[in-house]
Amino acid sequence: MKNADFLTGITTSGTPHLGNYVGAIRPAVESSRDKALKSYYFLADYHSLIKNHDPRLRKQSALEIAAAWIALGLDYDNCVFYRQSDIPEIPELTWILTSLTAKGLMNRAHAYKAAVADNEQDEDKDPDKGITMGLFSYPILMAADILMFNAKKVPVGKDQVQHLEMTRDIAARFNHIYGNLFVLPEVVVDETSAVLSGLDGRKMSKSYNNYIPLFDTEKALRKLIMKIQTNSLGPDEPKDPDTCTLFSIYQAFATSSESKAMAARYRQGIAWGTMKQELFEYINAILKEPRKRYEELIKTPSDIDNILKKGAARAREFSVPFLDQVRKAIGISLLG
Ligand code: TRP
Repeated sequence: MKNADFLTGITTSGTPHLGNYVGAIRPAVESSRDKALKSYYFLADYHSLIKNHDPRLRKQSALEIAAAWIALGLDYDNCVFYRQSDIPEIPELTWILTSLTAKGLMNRAHAYKAAVADNEQDEDKDPDKGITMGLFSYPILMAADILMFNAKKVPVGKDQVQHLEMTRDIAARFNHIYGNLFVLPEVVVDETSAVLSGLDGRKMSKSYNNYIPLFDTEKALRKLIMKIQTNSLGPDEPKDPDTCTLFSIYQAFATSSESKAMAARYRQGIAWGTMKQELFEYINAILKEPRKRYEELIKTPSDIDNILKKGAARAREFSVPFLDQVRKAIGISLLG
C-alpha cells in the first residue's frame, strides 16, 4: 500500500452544505478519480466529539456526509474512503504524538485561543470554562490522521492552515527524537473556493447557521436562495459583483467565462430576483442527479457501512505495518 498523495477529512458534525461541496467535496471527488494518485478521504468522527455531544446527530451526520460524497461521484474503489474511528492506529498514534507535543504549541492554536478570549470577556468566568482537553489537543488528533498515512498533500480550508503547520512541527519533532519516519505534509488551500459566503454574507458555516444544505428538496433550495441577503439597489441600477453573496456563490459553481459574463450583467443592473432565480437554476442543475442518488443511498445505510469498512481495511494495510514501525522506533515492541 502506497502512502497518501492527498488526504483530507470532514468532521461529522452537521448536514453537508454548499460550502463543504466547493471547499472539500468537489476537489476530493476530482482527485479520487485520478488513477495516478492515491487519495485518502475520511469521516473525522472522533473530531466531532469535541463540539457535539449528541450521539444521534453524530451518526446521522456521518451517514449524510458519506452519502453526499458517494452521490457526488467519489470513486471509492480508486481512492481510500473510510471512517477515522475504524482505524484504531489513529488514536494510538495520537497518544504517541501527544507525548512529544509541546503544550506551548497547543496554547497558540487559534480555536483554543478564541475560546479562552471569549471566556475572558466575562470577568467572573474561568478562562478555561467549557474547554475540554479534546478541544485543546484537537490539532494532535489531526496530526495523527495525516501522519498515520504519511500524506504528502492535505487540501483544507484556510481556517485549517495553522493545524497543518502544527502537524509539520509535531512530525519534525518526532523525526528529530526517534528518526525520520514521517513525511512533513504540505497544505493545499484553494483560494477561490475556501470563501463561499452564506445566507447572511459571512462565511458559509454550520456554526453561523447560515448554510444552504446540499441535498434539501428542490423547493427548499429555491427558498433558501431567495432568502440570501442583498442590498436595496433596484432593477437596472448597476451592481457590484465583488461584494455580493449571490455572485460569490455563482462564481464558486460556474466556469470563469460564465462568471465574467455574469459580472457584466451586474454592471448593467441585473435585478436581484432574476439573479436569485438564475443562481437557483444553475445550482439545481448541478445537484439534480446527485440528489436522486443521495436519496437512494440514505435509505440503505448498511451499503454505506460496507463501502466504509472496505475502505478501512485498505487504509489499515498501510496503518498497521506503519504503526508497527513507529512502535519499534519508540521502543515499544517485542522484548525478545
Ligand atoms: N479539522 C478539519 C476541519 O474541521 C477536519 C479534519 C480532521 C481534517 N482531520 C483532518 C482535515 C486531517 C484534513 C486532514 O475541517
